[in-house]
Order: sequence, then C-alpha cells, then structure tokens
Amino acid sequence: MTKKKKLTLSLLFLSLQFFSHFPHPITARGGARSSTNTSGFVGTSYRGLKRNLLKEERFLKLDKLAHGYMTNTDLKNAMKTLNKRCSSITRMYTIGKSVLGVPLWVMEITDKPGEEEAEPAFKFVGNVHGDEPVGREILLLLANWLCDNYKKDPLATLIIDNVHLHILPSMNPDGYSLRTRGNANKIDLNRDFPDQFFSINDEMDARQPESKAIMSWLKDQQFTASASLHGGALVANYPWDGTADKKTNYNACPDDKTFRYMASLYSRSHSNMSRSTEFEGGITNGAKWYPIYGGMQDWNYIHAGCFELTLEISDDKWPPANELSTIWEYNKMGMLNLVASLVKTGVHGRVLSSDYGRPLSASLSIKGINSTIKASETLADYHRLLVPGEVYEVMATMHGYKKKSTQILLGEEAMSLDFVLDPTILRQGSSFKSSCYYPTDGDGMGGFPLLDFVPGSQLQILYVTSFICLVFLFLLIMRKVMSRQPKYRQPVLPQRSNIA
Ligand SMILES: *[C@@H]1O[C@H](CO)[C@@H](O)[C@H](O)[C@H]1NC(C)=O
Ligand SMILES: *[C@@H]1O[C@H](CO)[C@@H](O)[C@H](O)[C@H]1NC(C)=O
Ligand SMILES: *[C@@H]1O[C@H](CO)[C@@H](O)[C@H](O)[C@H]1NC(C)=O
Ligand SMILES: [Zn+2]
Repeated sequence: MTKKKKLTLSLLFLSLQFFSHFPHPITARGGARSSTNTSGFVGTSYRGLKRNLLKEERFLKLDKLAHGYMTNTDLKNAMKTLNKRCSSITRMYTIGKSVLGVPLWVMEITDKPGEEEAEPAFKFVGNVHGDEPVGREILLLLANWLCDNYKKDPLATLIIDNVHLHILPSMNPDGYSLRTRGNANKIDLNRDFPDQFFSINDEMDARQPESKAIMSWLKDQQFTASASLHGGALVANYPWDGTADKKTNYNACPDDKTFRYMASLYSRSHSNMSRSTEFEGGITNGAKWYPIYGGMQDWNYIHAGCFELTLEISDDKWPPANELSTIWEYNKMGMLNLVASLVKTGVHGRVLSSDYGRPLSASLSIKGINSTIKASETLADYHRLLVPGEVYEVMATMHGYKKKSTQILLGEEAMSLDFVLDPTILRQGSSFKSSCYYPTDGDGMGGFPLLDFVPGSQLQILYVTSFICLVFLFLLIMRKVMSRQPKYRQPVLPQRSNIA
C-alpha cells in the first residue's frame, strides 16, 4: 500500500470513529432492532393527590430509616478520610455529576493508584437505585477493610497488589437524598442504557447525566468485570437481562457458563445466598427472573467487554442502620472472592507484534463463544475470565497482523498466555522477526510455540531466547542509527521511490 493510500484510509477510519458513539465497537451485538414503540419502558409519572400523600408517607418512613446512614456529604467525607489514611494505595476521583450537581466520587484501591499496569480492573457500583442504600454503606466498609488489611490479610494483599479496584459507592446521590428509586428526573438509571433488543435510550442527549458518566467512564477505563449492588432480594443476577419477545424466559448470553460460574462464586461465598428457596443456588439469569430493558449490566458486557453482575444483597431495601455491619459480614467473602477471581482464574497475557515488540490492542476470542474482549490500548494486556477445568482455543486477531490461536487446558488456577503476532505485510527492518521466529503456516497458526504458551518450567528457555533476540535487535538498531547519523545534517530530500 502506498503512503497516500494509507493516509486516505486512516482519515476515513478516523472520521468513521468520530461519528460512531464508541471508539472501540467490541462486537456488532446490541445493534438496534427496529422498534419505535417505547411504551412499556418509560416509568409512569406520579399523578393524583392520593399518590402524592402515599409518596409523602413513604418519604417520612425512609427518612426515619436513614438515621445512621451516611448523607451524601458524610459519604464524601468518609472517602476523603480513607484516602488520607491510606494515601499510598488509594486515589479519589469523580466521573461526573448527578442532575443536582453532586459529584460521583470513585475510590481506586491498588498498590499503584492512577498508574497504568498490566493488571485487570474491577468496579463496584452501589446505590444505582436511590432507595437501595445498603450498597453504598458496605462498599465503604469494604474499602476500609482492604485499607486496614493490606500486607496483613493474604486476600487483601492479593487484590491490592494485582487488581485495580474502583469503587463508586453511589451512582445516584440525588435519588438517595430524595428517597426515590429514580434520579432527580424520576428516571430509573437501570433502564437508561442503550438496549440490545429495542431502540430505547439511543438518543445521547436524552440520557441522564449519571448514566452518561458511567458510559464515558468505561471509554476511559477498561474493566474486566464488575458488580452493581441492589436491594430487595438476595440473589446474584447475570446477563441477559432482557428477551427479544419481552417474555420471561432464560436468555443465555454467549458467556453464560462463565457468568454462572461468577454468580455462583459470589453466592457460595455469601453466608446464606446459595441456600435461597426462591433461586436455585442463589443465582438467576436476569430474563428468567423478570426481563428488563435498558439495564446497565448487559450494556457493560456488550459495549465494554466488562462482565457485570447485578447483586441483590439484602431482602430489605432499607434495613435499620444497626443491621449494616451484619450485612457487610454476610457479603464480605463474596465481594473479596469475586474481585480476587480476576487473578486467581482465567487466561491472562499480552499481545505484541513480532517485528518491533509493539503492544497490540488485539481482539481476543474463544472458539465457540461469540464474544470478544480487547487487549488494553497502551500495554496490550488482556484478562479473559473462563470456567476452570476446560479446554479452550484462544484466538488473537488484529488488523494488519496474522491471527493466531492456541489451545489450552485451563486448570483451577489462572494461566499466562502471551501472543506474538506477525504483520501480514513484511515491513522493512523486520529481519529480527525472521531470524528469531519459525516461519508460520498459511493460516497464521503455529508460529513460535514457546511464545504462544509459556508454562512455568519453560520460562527459562523463553528468557534465553528473548535475550538473544534483544541483543540482536539492539545490534540492528545500533547499526541503523550509525549509518543514518551523517544524513541528519543534510536537507530532507523527497524519497526516491515517490518521485518515480
Ligand atoms: C454473534 O453475535 C452477533 C451479535 O449478536 C450476531 O449478529 C452473530 O450472528 C453471532 N454469530 C454467531 C456465529 O452466532
Ligand atoms: C406499544 O406497546 C404497548 C405495550 O407493549 C402496546 O400496548 C401498544 O399497543 C403498542 N403501541 C403501538 C403503537 O404499537
Ligand atoms: C439469610 O439470612 C437473613 C438474616 O438472618 C435472613 O433474613 C434470610 O431469610 C436468609 N436467607 C436465606 C436464603 O436463608
Ligand atoms: Zn435496584
């Protein structure tokens, strides 16, 4: 391809990106189907005097219950105190503001807060519904527990050293202070996201600031998995949340098995969630329980490759404040084990180019599972959750590179699997590649097997090989730099190949 052609293509690509909502459309899943009828989705407004009196009564009742709960100001101060107390492993930032202008504060907890590392990220989102405040309280208890137990408790240390944990205790501070489910505009935020089955919420301008904040947060920050916290039941809910025909039926998403594994991990770690008489094993497919549309969970999975669960953590939406510490104790191991599963299970690695060792933000997929995740933009690390004890074929694809796939047997522990992709067009100066890698076969599979799959015992061989390659690359670069040096003082001349 000539330089001009490349430039034109790049410009075309850029303009396409500009006009699309998301810079990285992960899959085509979630494309809007034709349906303009939005009735049945939008909450009815409260009308009539009787309704208002009931609302007033409810407010007074909840207001009484709120004694012992943190106000929005208390919450912010509690976060600031924690941030000061554990300044080396926490960072506070906001992702936007509510309708009434309350900042949406997030606490990042990790050993290198604010730094980019080749590690998975997890997020907890509490208080999505204003009148479900248990989540915001126990998330603060979780954050404090992690801070107190770093370098003391092995699970706390494992999480802080190997995961970037982001905690948004309240997504709906206005709903909390108004004691309402919806936000200050009376919109249910868990119905405000673009939907895969119906073209509701597709208007960017009509979306609530709280939902917009979540959506732009996920553009900036890549999360491997997450959980939002709710109240009113005791169950771990997983995608899909809706059905195309609006009927209440099990609707499995491509990663159904992985989601059931994650939901069960939570439910079994919880004191009594798995003993539920209503939900087998304490878990449920969202659509089988009751379908919802415009939910946050499915959107996370479809548009951000983030495996999100919706956790209903207490039957009582607004229990008396003296029950909060018990609810925290019940949920503690579930929360910790879920976050730790990001490093204890799954397949993890990096994707690099074979010519210059460039990090490639490649797409990773598993044969037989119709979903993809992306390696990160800067470090090209990827983290793929999967059910342990099975054989998988992991495939890495990247535009301009030959795809590669490797079969693995995933054990009970996490596995490392790096990919080195060869460019489809051999570039100038890529002799490094040909001398250090075996030629690949036609479909791009095979390659240098050691670099595809590196179990611990073979690491030494890899190190030696890498070292030889690095020395070779170093010499090559040195030679080029030396040969170019005199040219720096000459005026830049048009390249000969372009003149002809
Ligand atoms: C994969 O999912 C996409 C989006 O839902 C769908 O359009 C496509 O048909 C699916 N492919 C297969 C092979 O099922
Ligand atoms: C829209 O959907 C609702 C509920 O699903 C139904 O009652 C109504 O008749 C539909 N309206 C139109 C115009 O299709
Ligand atoms: C779990 O324990 C709580 C508190 O004791 C109780 O209210 C709830 O019914 C229990 N749930 C199950 C499924 O056993
Ligand atoms: Zn809820």
